[in-house]
Amino acid sequence: MDIDQIRADTPALNDVTFMNAAGSSISPEPVYNGMAFILDEEARIGGYHTHYKYEQELEVDLYASVAQLINCKPSEVAIVENATVAWQKIFYSLALTWKKGDIILSSTTEYGANLIAFMHVKKLYGVETIVLPDNELGEIDVIAMDAQIEALNGADKNVVLIAISHIPSNNALVQPAEAVGKVANKYGITYLLDACQSIGLYPVNVKKIGCDFLTTTSRKFLRGPRGNGFLYVSSKQLETIEPAMLDFFGAELDGAHNYNLRKDARRFENWENAYALRAGLHAAVDYALDLGLHKIWKRTQIISSKMREAIAEIPQMHIADLGSVQCSIITCYHETKPAAEIRKFLENKNILLTTASDHSAPWDGEQRKLPMKLRFSPHYYNDKNDVDTVIEILKAAVK
Ligand SMILES: Cc1ncc(COP(=O)(O)O)c(C=O)c1O
Repeated sequence: MDIDQIRADTPALNDVTFMNAAGSSISPEPVYNGMAFILDEEARIGGYHTHYKYEQELEVDLYASVAQLINCKPSEVAIVENATVAWQKIFYSLALTWKKGDIILSSTTEYGANLIAFMHVKKLYGVETIVLPDNELGEIDVIAMDAQIEALNGADKNVVLIAISHIPSNNALVQPAEAVGKVANKYGITYLLDACQSIGLYPVNVKKIGCDFLTTTSRKFLRGPRGNGFLYVSSKQLETIEPAMLDFFGAELDGAHNYNLRKDARRFENWENAYALRAGLHAAVDYALDLGLHKIWKRTQIISSKMREAIAEIPQMHIADLGSVQCSIITCYHETKPAAEIRKFLENKNILLTTASDHSAPWDGEQRKLPMKLRFSPHYYNDKNDVDTVIEILKAAVK
């Protein structure tokens, strides 16, 4: 990887030590330029004419790039407003077929917004959510999971969905998504993967994972803009799934009294869209593809493990990350100094990071009962100098 070129593409990295890719990354210039170009055109010739003029890029090439990123067909991709909307579109569409007593399986580290949807379908339809068993490293225990499904089947329970976050918001854990997929496919259970933190960081391959659906955002490790994301719907699911909401883009009017559903995943989209943001997403995907996801994963593994080791050596600092495979999210806390105070100290020295509360993964929070944590999320654009700076200032913050 040409780090000098990468950093030259993002001059803002000279002004700040940026450690918040898991929140919302700084985009490289091609992303900004892609958006600015469409905005300029819209200012000159209006939104519709810009759309007609760049139809190939916005309607065809973008979908091909996203498909390449996750190894699916362009017809299996829909672009929507954010990861939560992507997830909700799938979840609430599936819910149309659920009955009282049906079971959803999810993980301890599931994202807080998804938990609200689980509670919502319990209230609306009487669908229960059961937490999958974890192993001693805090990741899904796939053997125990298999036994759990066997027992549920034996008790005549209908498991309608496995919904897990690939990488949670609140720690480094990479869930064994492929192994979960094997179990899901063995029992023919629909599998929805929240890949909000893994896209742009981890080489995600939907065919290898074996998920039916995948949802994500643009703004995190992918380095795209705020305000959009995408979802994957497998061709098999496209044969049957009916969106919970449709407009006349997702379906075509057939006379005045009938409609025909779109054949592709774009049945989950609406007619009106922010095309400048789509151009930004397109540039971000192409940028990641050019660098190569395996290379990105390798470099971020090196940077984050070095940082994690150095933080662990600071007296009274504790690492809070789980899992046998850990990504470029480092969570930690100090025995006495509150995370918010440390974060403020770092921010005053131009180190940008966030704190991680129980809010983002409430079941995990309830189980581990840890204080508020600092969350560092370096990316491939960070270098040794950034890591040294963070460690030096963090030491000073907790002295
Ligand atoms: C694991 C996970 N899922 C979903 C989301 C929601 O993403 P968005 O804010 O784009 O809806 C987040 C955001 O932090 C996340 O970390």
